[in-house]
Amino acid sequence: MKILLSLTPLILFLFFYLVQGLNPKCDAQDHGSNLQVFHVFSPCSPFKPSNPLSWEQSVLQLQAKDQVRLQFLASLVAKRSIVPIASGRQIIQSPTYIVRAKIGNPAQTLLMALDNSNDASWIPCAGCEGCSSTFFVPDKSTTFKNVSCFAAECKQVPNPTCGGSACAFNLTYGSSSIAANLVQDTVTLATDPLPGYTFGCIAKTTGTSTPPQGLLGLGRGPLSLLSQSQNLYQSTFSYCLPSFKSLNFSGSLRLGPSAQPKNIKFTPLLRNPRRSSLYYVNLFAIRVGNRIVNIPPPALAFNPTTGAGTIFDSGTVFTRLSEPAYVAVRDEFRRRVGANLTVTALGGFDTCYTVPIVTPTITFLFDGMNVTLPQDNILIHSTAGSTTCLAMASAPNNVNSVLNVIANMQQQNHRVLYDVPNSRIGVSRELCS
Ligand SMILES: *[C@@H]1O[C@H](CO)[C@@H](O)[C@H](O)[C@H]1NC(C)=O
Ligand SMILES: *[C@@H]1O[C@H](CO)[C@@H](O)[C@H](O)[C@H]1NC(C)=O
Ligand SMILES: *[C@@H]1O[C@H](CO)[C@@H](O)[C@H](O)[C@H]1NC(C)=O
Ligand SMILES: *[C@@H]1O[C@H](CO)[C@@H](O)[C@H](O)[C@H]1NC(C)=O
Ligand SMILES: *[C@@H]1O[C@H](CO)[C@@H](O)[C@H](O)[C@H]1NC(C)=O
Repeated sequence: MKILLSLTPLILFLFFYLVQGLNPKCDAQDHGSNLQVFHVFSPCSPFKPSNPLSWEQSVLQLQAKDQVRLQFLASLVAKRSIVPIASGRQIIQSPTYIVRAKIGNPAQTLLMALDNSNDASWIPCAGCEGCSSTFFVPDKSTTFKNVSCFAAECKQVPNPTCGGSACAFNLTYGSSSIAANLVQDTVTLATDPLPGYTFGCIAKTTGTSTPPQGLLGLGRGPLSLLSQSQNLYQSTFSYCLPSFKSLNFSGSLRLGPSAQPKNIKFTPLLRNPRRSSLYYVNLFAIRVGNRIVNIPPPALAFNPTTGAGTIFDSGTVFTRLSEPAYVAVRDEFRRRVGANLTVTALGGFDTCYTVPIVTPTITFLFDGMNVTLPQDNILIHSTAGSTTCLAMASAPNNVNSVLNVIANMQQQNHRVLYDVPNSRIGVSRELCS
């Protein structure tokens, strides 16, 4: 007994040591201008499902989220109103990647969703109707201020109204509606304080798309992080998104021009004046194995009027191509895998196999930059290993089907560098850790 008692500290120590070794260091602080990026299913995420989902369930859930996301993106490019889809299947309402941000003084920590297709940031505030139980408490911050409805910033939000004398606005995000007050407070990212940062303080939300602890807009329009931190970060950032398969790894969001990779291929950014926040690029061809597939040029062409073209989006999970582009890629992929193999469907994926397969690479040809995707970015495998699907799909036919979206699964384990001053995006392979 005595021996056992004296060993207990050692056993406990070993136990913690092992657990630490396996788990990411969830409470490790961010340094400099570098933030850890967590997948929402990571052990560090409070949004992970309490009961682990089966593989099929998580795929279907991520696809259901994508459907709402694509409607949101389509509403941005086409300026159409959003038809919320009923989606009782969404068990958790959450973003895919999150970063830690500190709001106010003294700092209150929130885990905000990364969204490069959205400009503004918004955060649930105390008293919010319909928000989750973690929120920002303005009364506890000595630096909090309401933005007056006469301030210039108030003209940059959609449909501003005057609540008392404070600026308020409503917006739709995916299948949600959000009513917020425009406010200012210090936002600290890693160890960089951004005093007087303007963001939406959510007062009320309905629907299931609002990220539970807020959203950090990395778009390039007014009120975005880029516009508000121009002196510090010069509209430059990069991220490495960790894979769904290695949830114990975190990725990183690197803000500012220093410490960015030097050896990286770039493609020019295209500007759509009707939708200034989106990161459009020119994807002009797609190669499957060594063959460039036959895609009618309008399926890839950039057209600011219709919103057609290709964007990099951090919030969509699976790449969506306009129908003619997807069909060409899929048919060549199936041919390469084996024309005689039985193809099955799973949710929105139409190219799944239940036998082991050897797959061709898929290469996106952008102006000046070819990105060849390794298998891990092309295929999703069931944990049991019995089903493998091509992790792309054609745009759902109820949304603007002209937009090609390079989604986060296809960006995983790559460094994606947004260099807005030089109007270009760079991509290079990197194992995030
Ligand atoms: C992540 O860590 C947990 C517990 O620390 C462990 O059980 C799990 O196997 C790890 N997962 C991976 C994919 O390494
Ligand atoms: C900010 O505006 C809200 C809504 O109008 C109001 O409830 C709150 O008291 C104001 N806070 C400050 C610090 O002025
Ligand atoms: C915004 O939403 C709030 C709360 O749902 C509502 O009271 C207000 O009338 C809305 N304002 C506008 C301009 O739609
Ligand atoms: C596919 O099946 C057909 C008919 O069963 C056969 O003639 C052909 O050789 C098979 N092709 C391959 C690549 O196995
Ligand atoms: C991309 O690949 C194509 C052939 O598939 C090649 O002609 C082209 O030079 C490559 N572009 C770059 C930038 O490497």
